[in-house]
Amino acid sequence: MRPLVASVDLAALRHNYQLAKQCAPGRKAFAVVKANAYGHGAPAAVECLRDLADGFAVASLEEAEQVRAVDANARLLLLEGCFEASEYAAAAELGLDVAIQGEAQAAALLRTKLERPLNVWLKLDSGMHRLGFCSDALRQCHARLKAAAQVGELNLMSHFACADERGHPLNEAQLEQFVGLLDLDFTHRSFANSAAVLTLSAAHMDWLRPGIMLYGATPFAELSAEALGLKPVMSLTAKIIAIRDVPAGDSVGYGAGWVAPRPSRIATVSCGYADGYPRTAPLGTCVSIRGHRVPLAGRVSMDMLGVDVTDLPDAALGDEVQLWGDQVPIDELAQACGTIGYELLTKVTPRVPRRYIND
Ligand SMILES: Cc1ncc(COP(=O)(O)O)c(C=O)c1O
Repeated sequence: MRPLVASVDLAALRHNYQLAKQCAPGRKAFAVVKANAYGHGAPAAVECLRDLADGFAVASLEEAEQVRAVDANARLLLLEGCFEASEYAAAAELGLDVAIQGEAQAAALLRTKLERPLNVWLKLDSGMHRLGFCSDALRQCHARLKAAAQVGELNLMSHFACADERGHPLNEAQLEQFVGLLDLDFTHRSFANSAAVLTLSAAHMDWLRPGIMLYGATPFAELSAEALGLKPVMSLTAKIIAIRDVPAGDSVGYGAGWVAPRPSRIATVSCGYADGYPRTAPLGTCVSIRGHRVPLAGRVSMDMLGVDVTDLPDAALGDEVQLWGDQVPIDELAQACGTIGYELLTKVTPRVPRRYIND
């Protein structure tokens, strides 16, 4: 078997969910498990959190079905609502909560005859301008839906554009838009993603929607996951599958882009961009071997990457190599590559087996 595994620490996942709840005592929290629980495996994440989480949130009916297969009763929110009119009946059958993010969705819901009413989350476009009603339109929609037979609870939700930038003026402006609607009769309100859970208590409302923090990565550029008390959930671990000495002046890897500045020892590691390791990782990016950080040497290939172990003479064939995890924070790698932990986690490809630990 190819030596590459994404280990998923379920105890860390539970710790991070509990930390989200501790940030907002008395509030409930949908654990956001869309995109296969940010690459960690939704069925295992749901199984792990089912006795702890107040609910789950996903991006599609297909993802909701996956969660339902594990937890028949959990409160389960469809964050973008239904994409086709025919999905409302299926959503009702699955007992979902659905977002209504625009006029077309509201009209489709009102045209549908349902066996049982759906809990609806009216989505306010409070300033992100991606999904949702503006305030006036939301008021009108609230009036139309509040007595509709298809609607159970009528709730309010919105989403921040810049909660990861503390003090960004849009945060206050979005909050103001949201609060401006609280004279309407809603059963529940929800606004906070991870960044807002961690730093914007005025946005906590009734239901939190933490995603990235559950997986132990930070939403902030300048606040590390460790400083926030989060524990990394995924570690991506490969092995050294070859070692060679390279004379000074010789190059390593595709494009001959890395040239040995001295007689060097190069280890080849069983992980590449087809596994989800970013090809954009710049030289100087580190992996961890035997608890030591060693830099990449040469471009990341499809199935392998090279590292310079000249300063780690003990490094040997078969050694474990941590690409990210507790020794190489995923956020550090993401920043070096000009991206975010979210992207790296969700792009770990299906060919990487997930192994669940600390159940
Ligand atoms: C509507 C909505 N709520 C909550 C989240 C969770 O956000 P985060 O992962 O930043 O906590 C997302 C993620 O994109 C989202 O789209």
